[in-house]
Amino acid sequence: MRTPTPADTGLELAGESRYRLLVEAVMDYAIYLLDPGGHVSSWNPGAERFKGYASHEIIGRHFSIFYTEEDRLAGVPERALETARREGRFEAEGWRVHKSGRRFWCSVVIDAVRDDQGNVLGFAKITRDITDKKKALEEIQATRDALHHAQKLEALGRLTSGVAHDFNNFLATIRFAAEMLRRPSLSDDKRLQLASVVTATVDRAGHLTAQLLAYSRKQPLTPARFDVRACIEGMRDIFAATVGSAIKIEYVFQDAPLHICADSTQLETALLNMVINARDAMPAGGRLCITARREAPGGEDGAASDRPNTLAQPCIAIELRDSGCGMEPDVLAQIFEPFFTTKPVGKGTGLGLSQVFGFSKQSGGDVRVASEVGRGSTFTLSIPEDVSAADGPPPVAAASDSLPRQQKRIMLVDDDTQVGTVLRALLEDLGHQVSFCTDASAALQRLGDAQGAMDVVIADVQMAGLDGMELAKRVRTKWPHIRVVLTTGAAGRAAGSDAHAFPLLPKPWSMELLLDMLRQD
Ligand SMILES: Nc1ncnc2c1ncn2[C@@H]1O[C@H](COP(=O)(O)OP(=O)(O)OP(=O)(O)O)[C@@H](O)[C@H]1O
Ligand SMILES: [Mg+2]
Repeated sequence: MRTPTPADTGLELAGESRYRLLVEAVMDYAIYLLDPGGHVSSWNPGAERFKGYASHEIIGRHFSIFYTEEDRLAGVPERALETARREGRFEAEGWRVHKSGRRFWCSVVIDAVRDDQGNVLGFAKITRDITDKKKALEEIQATRDALHHAQKLEALGRLTSGVAHDFNNFLATIRFAAEMLRRPSLSDDKRLQLASVVTATVDRAGHLTAQLLAYSRKQPLTPARFDVRACIEGMRDIFAATVGSAIKIEYVFQDAPLHICADSTQLETALLNMVINARDAMPAGGRLCITARREAPGGEDGAASDRPNTLAQPCIAIELRDSGCGMEPDVLAQIFEPFFTTKPVGKGTGLGLSQVFGFSKQSGGDVRVASEVGRGSTFTLSIPEDVSAADGPPPVAAASDSLPRQQKRIMLVDDDTQVGTVLRALLEDLGHQVSFCTDASAALQRLGDAQGAMDVVIADVQMAGLDGMELAKRVRTKWPHIRVVLTTGAAGRAAGSDAHAFPLLPKPWSMELLLDMLRQD
C-alpha cells in the first residue's frame, strides 16, 4: 500500500482555504493585494465594508482612488508604493475616501510581496478605520485645552480680584487719612497719627507688590555669597516662636560649607513662608524637619517630589518636611499661583508660596513639592551652589541719625511727575537743593550746562527713551564724582549684573532708606 501524500488528503487545499476563510472573516481590517503597478488584485469583506466598493467594482482599479484629491495631486499614493518597494514596508495614518465620498481616518500598512529572487510581485495592504479613535483623542485634547484655559482664567481672575481687593482697602485708608488731614481743626497729635497710618498702609501695599514682583521674578534682588546653614541657624528662634511648642523642629545639616549667591533677606522670607505653612498644616502639633545639603545636578533627589531637580549645576537644597495634613492633587497643582489659598479669609492671602516660587526661579533655582494627604508635605528649595572662593563686599552699616549731615545738590530724574514733585518737595524741606527732570536726555543736558556741578543723581530705571541705567553709566563716565542712585518699581533691567554697580532703591522706598544712601559717601 502507498503512503498517502498531503495532496491525497486534501491538506494543501485545506491550508489555502483556511487562509481565505481567515481573510474573509476579518471585518475590522481592509486586507487586499495590489499588483506591482498599484492596481487592486484581491479584496476582502472588511475592505468592502470600509470603502464601500464590492469586489467586482474595484478589482483592476488603481488604489489611488481611495486617496483624497489633495493627496493624489501631491503624489502621496505613488510615494507610499515607492517606500514599500524600497524599504519593504510603508506605514502611515491619513484621510481616505469612501465610495460615497465620505472621508475617514485610516491607519495604513503596505508590505512589498517578493518572490524568491527578490522581484516585487505586488503589495499587501492592510487598512484600519481609526476615525473613532482619532475623534476620541481629539475630544480628550479639546477637553484638556478647555480645562487648561479655564484654569488659567481662574488663576488670572483670582490674581486680579486679589490685587483689586487689597489695593482698594489701602486706597480707602489713604483717602480717609488725606481727607482728615485737610481739616483745619486737627490737633498736631492726630495729624502725626494719620501720617503714620498712611506710611504704614504704603508699607503694606509695598509688601504686596513686592510679593507679586517676587512671583513674576521681577523683584530687585541684592545677591551676595553666604552660607545657607548660618542663615538657617540665625532663624532658629524666629522659627520656634512661629510654630509654637506643639511643633518640634529638627535640623539636619550636611557637614560642609553650603554657599549660595542669593538675596539672603528673600531666602529668609521664603523659609518663613514655608515654616508658617507647615505650622498651619499641623494645627494639633507635629514635627518639622529642616534639612540643608548639597544636591548633585540632574535630579539626584533624596525626597520623592512631583518632579526631579532639573538644574544643570550643583545646588544647595533646603528641605522642609512636615507631618501635617498634606494636600490633595488638585490643591497641589495650584499652590504656587498668587492668591491661591485654602485658608479662611484673614488667615491666608495665598501669596506665600508665590514668593517662594518667584525667588527660587529668579535666583536660578527651583522649588519642588511632594505631599500625601494625612501624612505630610515636603518642600525642597534648590539654589545653585556658589563655588567661588571670594566673599562678597561686606554689607554697609546703616547710619543712625536720621538727618543729612550737609546740604546736597540733588538731581531727580523720573518720568512720573507726581512722584518727582512730591520727592522734590520732601528733599527741599530737608534742606537739599533739588532739580527735577522727567527724562534722561534732559538730565544729561542740564548736567552738561552746569558742568557736572551736582552731588547726587537719583534716577528711575524704567523711562522711555534713554533709561536710568544708561544715564547712570554716562554720568559715571563723564562726572565720576557724582553719586548715582537708581530707583525702580520692578527689577527689569536693573536685575542684570551691572545694576549692582549702582545702589538701588526699590519703590516704594522710605525716606529713611534714601537718607541712608545719601550718607554713604
Ligand atoms: N506644608 C503645607 N501643608 C499643606 N498644605 C500646604 C502647605 N503649604 C502650602 N499649603 C497649601 O498651599 C496653599 C497656598 O500656600 P501659600 O503659602 O501660597 O498661601 P497661604 O498660606 O494660603 O497664604 P499666605 O502665605 O499668603 O498667608 C495653602 O493655602 C495651603 O492650602
Ligand atoms: Mg502661606
